[in-house]
Amino acid sequence: MRKPSVTVRVPATTSNLGPGIDTLGVALKLHNHISIRESDGLNVERVDDQKGSPSANAISREAVDAFFRRSKVKPHGLQIEVKGDVPAIGGLGSSVTVRLGIAYALNELNGRPLSDTALLEVVTELEHHPDNAAPALFGGFVVSGVIDGTIRYRRFNVPPSLKFVVCVPDFPVSTEKARPLLPKQVSLGDAVENMKRVALITSVFATGDYSLLRGLFDDKLHQPYRKKLIPMLDDVIAAGAEAGALGGWLSGSGPGIVCITEQKEKAVAEAMVNVFVRQQIHCQPHILVADNDGTRVKRA
Ligand code: HSE
Repeated sequence: MRKPSVTVRVPATTSNLGPGIDTLGVALKLHNHISIRESDGLNVERVDDQKGSPSANAISREAVDAFFRRSKVKPHGLQIEVKGDVPAIGGLGSSVTVRLGIAYALNELNGRPLSDTALLEVVTELEHHPDNAAPALFGGFVVSGVIDGTIRYRRFNVPPSLKFVVCVPDFPVSTEKARPLLPKQVSLGDAVENMKRVALITSVFATGDYSLLRGLFDDKLHQPYRKKLIPMLDDVIAAGAEAGALGGWLSGSGPGIVCITEQKEKAVAEAMVNVFVRQQIHCQPHILVADNDGTRVKRA
């Protein structure tokens, strides 16, 4: 039986974590809220100060179509509202919050015809990679990938003692622009540098001695190329590390930059922001912890 309306809360995510391009991600306690109500036609509204962002309209329609196609539920008209705190362009998985929020809420509204795995597949098909979608759905730190056509993932809770200091500068970098900068081929040496770090980062999140993360976030496969769009990247990460962070990375395809720390998170944020300020760039810092819940229905 259909419920009249559903609101879901979807966390922001930071993906790649340096070397883990398209593979690693963490859900963060910064959320968007997606509400869906049956109605005539399809109306999408962004009801916060991010009105006019590209997140709301086009990608909402794609997510609605993808849900109806996969679930074989008879398409019906919808009123969709998107609001929340996830910057529309920052590398914090804003598009996933909208796509997953819509698919998840539609699934609830229609009596859950799709499993969580099927929802992840629907959103991954739209996003091309599960590295944001998997942590947004399941919460925590997630290593994921499509292996022989099937999405495989493992998730681990992340304690609140670990802080994610996120700085989002006020210039846009879209995944569409940042992706073509990546090389078609890389050297074996560079690939091995990343592989060993990804394996070690994953083992640290699985076992919990986070001090061992220091030195593991260097990347050879995407950040060096994307720096053309975010030239201050290395300086921001170095400033955060100097102030006490374990390391840092470009969040997804940017322009957000994340440092991870077990201490002095305010000093880390200040040091990161100062690098932007010296270049006359405004930057909004957030000190966040991981969201271990993932996407949840909001009870009225
Ligand atoms: N991992 C993607 C990229 C971003 O680095 O282009 C999110 O899927």
